[in-house]
Amino acid sequence: MLNFVYHNPVKVVFGRGTIAKLVNLVKMDQTIMMTYGGGSIRQNGVYDQVMDALKGHSVVEFSGIEPNPRYETCMEAVKKAKIEGVDFLLSVGGGSVLDATKFIAAAIRYEGNDPWDILGERAPVTSAVPIGCVITLPATGSEMNSIAVISRESTREKLPFSSKHVYPQFSILDPETTYSLPERQITNGIVDTFVHVLEQYLTYDANTPLQDRQAEAILLTLIEEAPKVLEDPNNYDVRANLVWCATHGLNGLIACGVPQDWSTHMIGHELTALHGLDHGQSLAIVLPAVLQHQKQQKGPKLVQYAQRVWKIKGLGHDETIDAAITQTVEFFRSVGMPTRLSDYNITPSDCMTVAERFEQRGVKLGEHRAIGKQEIEEILALCA
Ligand code: NZQ
Ligand code: ZN
Repeated sequence: MLNFVYHNPVKVVFGRGTIAKLVNLVKMDQTIMMTYGGGSIRQNGVYDQVMDALKGHSVVEFSGIEPNPRYETCMEAVKKAKIEGVDFLLSVGGGSVLDATKFIAAAIRYEGNDPWDILGERAPVTSAVPIGCVITLPATGSEMNSIAVISRESTREKLPFSSKHVYPQFSILDPETTYSLPERQITNGIVDTFVHVLEQYLTYDANTPLQDRQAEAILLTLIEEAPKVLEDPNNYDVRANLVWCATHGLNGLIACGVPQDWSTHMIGHELTALHGLDHGQSLAIVLPAVLQHQKQQKGPKLVQYAQRVWKIKGLGHDETIDAAITQTVEFFRSVGMPTRLSDYNITPSDCMTVAERFEQRGVKLGEHRAIGKQEIEEILALCA
């Protein structure tokens, strides 16, 4: 097992009717800026629940945060927050709203010239306005982690940052808020969570049987619950299980002491930046290609995944791995998720700048940091 430090300060408030608990979670003497997206919370009643809970508080609103939140939009929010003297940010929505809110929180306090440097130059974040959140889409795990991913329209970049200062102080997870999700976002969330787990699980053996089984538990639960949510979208228990899976997929627990990959995510972010694919859509295309390309390096873990998650037995080594990759693709397709670039009329040659971008940044991907320009090009060719 590798060395690790695990510290997760997020207070999770889970269950039906929990938005009302905001009244006890946010101090009265603060000016709150409530951040939200394109309006889903106004249609599904979440906005009203938040406003009811915050009666008597001083609240300003910032809406219009888009999926794959844009730096340009975040900077408008920073301007507004400074004018209003905001001292607490409340994110109400999906991972995009929360990621934007994390960046806004850091950018308000940033003392350098250009807050983009937090993303582009990995400039350290030394302080941030405190954040709370009501999460309405199970996918990113952002509600219980210190990560945000922000896109810049003008340069077509999509970059992550992480800082302990942007952990939400609390996250309200009411599974009933997810009833209104369109099927496309349910699917995105299932795939995103599945891939988060695989990026931390399908690497090389570090003798971590507990973390491996924790990861497998999330995968098996997703495989069980995914068809149920599509058949019976108003089933509270299924929604609750999906919300809790998503949170556990990226709250740092299954990452303890294990090597991590993240090449699917990094290549996927570029596909989103260049071609506008949803985050989940990009992952469903790239993951199978990464596994195919890296099957030698990931061999023993792929076999474990095949046997324990997909119950594949009695095949040779290579056939076992191929069957696990096929099962993964079939699972994605079974929840309505396309898995090839051609499903979006994109060709690998439309994506070749992706590999160059990583080379320009001097970044190599994967748990061995061995996936460079040539390997990325080969992986993209497998995405056709
Ligand atoms: O904007 P509104 O109107 O709220 O609509 C949103 C949006 O159109 C809608 N939605 C959200 N909750 C809803 C709902 N519609 C009906 N009912 C609800 N309850 O869904 C659409 C997509 O929302 P978005 O927040 O973009 O989705 P998601 O939560 O999947 O977040 C994706 C973003 O998170 C980043 C991705 O790269 C992407 O930018 N990620 C963040 C991570 C993190 N912070 O740890 C890790 C992930 O790997 C990921 O990279
Ligand atoms: Zn993701």
